[in-house]
Amino acid sequence: MPNYLVHPVTTVGGSIRVPGDKSISHRSLMLGGIAEGVTEVRGFLESEDCLSTMKAMRALGVRVEQTGPQEVRVHGVGLHGLKPANHPLDMGNAGTAMRLMTGLLSGQSFDSELIGDSSLMRRPMERVAKPLREMGAQIETLDGKPPVRIKGGAQLAGIRYELPVASAQVKSAILLAGLYANGATTVIEPAVTRDHTERMLQSFGCSVSAGHGEVRLTPPTRLEACSLEVPGDFSSAAFFMIAGSIGQGSGLTISGVGVNPTRTGLLDILALMGADLRVVNHRSAGAEPVADIEVRPAQLKGIHVPEHLVPLAIDEFPALFIAAACAEGETLVTGAEELRVKESDRIAVMAAGLTAMGVQCEVLKDGIRIQGRPQSAVFSGGEVDSHGDHRIAMSFAIASLRAAAPIRIADVANVATSFPNFPGVAAAAGLKVELQ
Ligand code: S3P
Repeated sequence: MPNYLVHPVTTVGGSIRVPGDKSISHRSLMLGGIAEGVTEVRGFLESEDCLSTMKAMRALGVRVEQTGPQEVRVHGVGLHGLKPANHPLDMGNAGTAMRLMTGLLSGQSFDSELIGDSSLMRRPMERVAKPLREMGAQIETLDGKPPVRIKGGAQLAGIRYELPVASAQVKSAILLAGLYANGATTVIEPAVTRDHTERMLQSFGCSVSAGHGEVRLTPPTRLEACSLEVPGDFSSAAFFMIAGSIGQGSGLTISGVGVNPTRTGLLDILALMGADLRVVNHRSAGAEPVADIEVRPAQLKGIHVPEHLVPLAIDEFPALFIAAACAEGETLVTGAEELRVKESDRIAVMAAGLTAMGVQCEVLKDGIRIQGRPQSAVFSGGEVDSHGDHRIAMSFAIASLRAAAPIRIADVANVATSFPNFPGVAAAAGLKVELQ
């Protein structure tokens, strides 16, 4: 099992780019696959999660060419052109792929089965199965978990569904099934979640409207292929926003980052903590806003993270906990129970790692309380276990900017699910992440 050995450093700086957005890359393959014509994707994230989606779409009869580095060409087969796979579709570690594909496959004429790795096989799937069944889909899970078995040939009907949890994956699964439904589909969100599916559906010519907490899709007769540009992943950039805040140096720039406002809650949280972050050079990549992010060192202070920002920063909490440990005073996170059903239980696993590094924290049912220590060596160094969770592995890597001794991070293979070449990008910023 590969590990990282991260060596203490004090300074970060320079200018870096992070790989393409994972959420948008998954969606580009799925929508490109059921569009009519050829969809060209630039900036595609060639990570294991997105390659799982690529393999699944290929198994369903879609030709996907890798035409260059971070470039793919998807030969769409049309809304009704997918073919049955002759084996269960293995979505690896990718929750997004499994949940969105469940929606997409609900509307097909053939049966499908979705499986995944040991982490994915433990994750809740009834949250998508339940609304899809209300639409008429025939889906079985095993005690609410994968394998997910979808019976083909169901005639779906549009529904009006109020999400019990703020989840872009559930919203997206319903919208993808809605493409195949009779009548319009409306999803009501308890809080704003990432809207990449809605934006991309519009790029493919589908009528989707959003406002007042509701998203409404009218089923199209066809989706039209288009060109897509995938911005840098804000969630990958997040590690460096925090590294640039807790390290020393004259500043770090992260270029070409997606700054869709449904993703940038971390910018607001870090601003409340006193970070020195600037978002400059605003531009767009098709339907998605992009910018460069400049960060300079700052003494952060602990806060109670406003709960309305939780869904807008849902993937950034492991890294934020590292920032909180370096802040002056206490940081309190509440209303974040969703963290318990991510690739790992991110509250429990981060708390174990922080405690092992000498940071005082208290686990709450729906969050955590972290006592910050604004000193140069916050983390003792030693061993932490990422439990195969990519974001936990990368979070403890940036802790090396405030570590007294090297940190060995166990079980880091899954960093490749979202951030291929993390050690290389980290090195460009001044970190020393050794893969062992
Ligand atoms: C994602 C939605 C979020 C996020 C995940 C990607 C997406 O999950 O945590 O990494 O691409 O739609 P939830 O919908 O479960 O919050």
